[in-house]
Amino acid sequence: MGRAKRTIRTMEEIIVTGGKPLNGSVAVLGAKNAVLKQMVAMLLAPGTHQLRNVPGILDVVLMGRVLEHIGATCSFDGHALTVEVPDQLRPEAPLDLVRQMRASIVVLGPLLARGGVAMVAFPGGDDLGARPIDMHIDGLRKMGAEFELEHGVLMARAPRGLVGTEIGLEFPSVGATENVLLGAVLATGETTVHNAAREPEIEDLAAFLTKMGARIQGAGTSVITVEGVDTLQPTTHEVLADRLEAGTYAVAGAITGGEVRIERCVPDHLRMELRKLTDVGCTIGRGDDWFTVAGPERPLPVDFATLPFPGFHTDMQPQMVALLSVASGTSVITENIYDARFRYAGELMRMGADITTEWQHAVIRGVEKLSGCPVIAPDIRAGASLVLAALRAEGQTVVGDIHHIDRGYEDFVGRLQSLGGDLERRPAGAAQ
Ligand code: EPU
Repeated sequence: MGRAKRTIRTMEEIIVTGGKPLNGSVAVLGAKNAVLKQMVAMLLAPGTHQLRNVPGILDVVLMGRVLEHIGATCSFDGHALTVEVPDQLRPEAPLDLVRQMRASIVVLGPLLARGGVAMVAFPGGDDLGARPIDMHIDGLRKMGAEFELEHGVLMARAPRGLVGTEIGLEFPSVGATENVLLGAVLATGETTVHNAAREPEIEDLAAFLTKMGARIQGAGTSVITVEGVDTLQPTTHEVLADRLEAGTYAVAGAITGGEVRIERCVPDHLRMELRKLTDVGCTIGRGDDWFTVAGPERPLPVDFATLPFPGFHTDMQPQMVALLSVASGTSVITENIYDARFRYAGELMRMGADITTEWQHAVIRGVEKLSGCPVIAPDIRAGASLVLAALRAEGQTVVGDIHHIDRGYEDFVGRLQSLGGDLERRPAGAAQ
């Protein structure tokens, strides 16, 4: 078994030669946005936990560091992750870790529930926008927690423990729903979350917590009820399939005019995205845990707006924009989740895309062809979308800052190569 110290290769780039249709099949791994929260949930019970189907991605390594800072020990064996959680926790997540792993903010709930204290560096904004955490704080405050911001550190205390109550979220925030859920499972009495996020990853977190002994009803709907219990036990769980990894490979097939089969996934979790792929002219086939996408020669334009689940996922928006950049007409996209999610459009425009953005709207006038050039990956999904655009583009594209892609995709290059893509990783700035 290896410790949680995996190599982090930051100074690399991906070089892509476009023009080849992608064909073949690819099996997806566990969902990044499920596994990260399940790792944090382990803090609720001392002992040995195990997660299976854990993707080999940078964010899992970084969350492992957060857990180790708090006192846990993480070890990887292939796609299995074993975590030993001690009786006594060090209830803090310092700035250097929170900066690298924004999702660390969800340690607030479990740390308050376990020991009544948490010190978490206040996360700033990122490439997607300001990303406030007011709903996390309001929810836990209603349960009896007190918060003070001191020198950039959020000091949280629950002197009388967390107490169940009614919480209405202003917006179905994924992170706020999770933080409240993670606090409520060990709280005194019943907590009800209204307007809860309905994402499949929340359902999977609830399934994990239920195996630990939690009493939760309604996960996956907008009203979640939790009956607090005194203690929880360690458990073993297979992480839900990553719908975003599945969706990204689907667009890889679509944008190159190839045919890709995506296996070990839940097509029902991508209903809206598959509907839009059908609208652009893709042919979709599907079973319970697989689907196929055959791309048209040239996509048709479509309009869509991103929304919380079951709406079109914001984390599939950049990949879809790459596809629509070569459509036979004009598409209008509305981004409703983040206030700065179109920053990558400038990089796509360097490749010849014709995109105008204003506030949360993007107008994409499809062009006949894209042409390869050097571009920079600004975040996980935008990074993936630039690689997808490059697979369609004429000539060579060099994608820099690919550590962003490594945060969310295991062996992205290898998997696209296995589908016939002409691309490779190399040290940044290496001679061609
Ligand atoms: N928001 C607030 N106040 C809050 C919480 C959220 O204003 O207290 C706002 C955010 O600023 C954002 C919106 O509400 O504009 C949605 O935020 P949400 O809390 O739903 O998202 P999150 O928990 O921060 C998770 C995923 C994101 C994914 C979103 C939306 C993880 C680790 N991250 O973020 O994933 O985009 O849900 O589905 O689960 C990615 O995987 O690339 C990624 C960014």
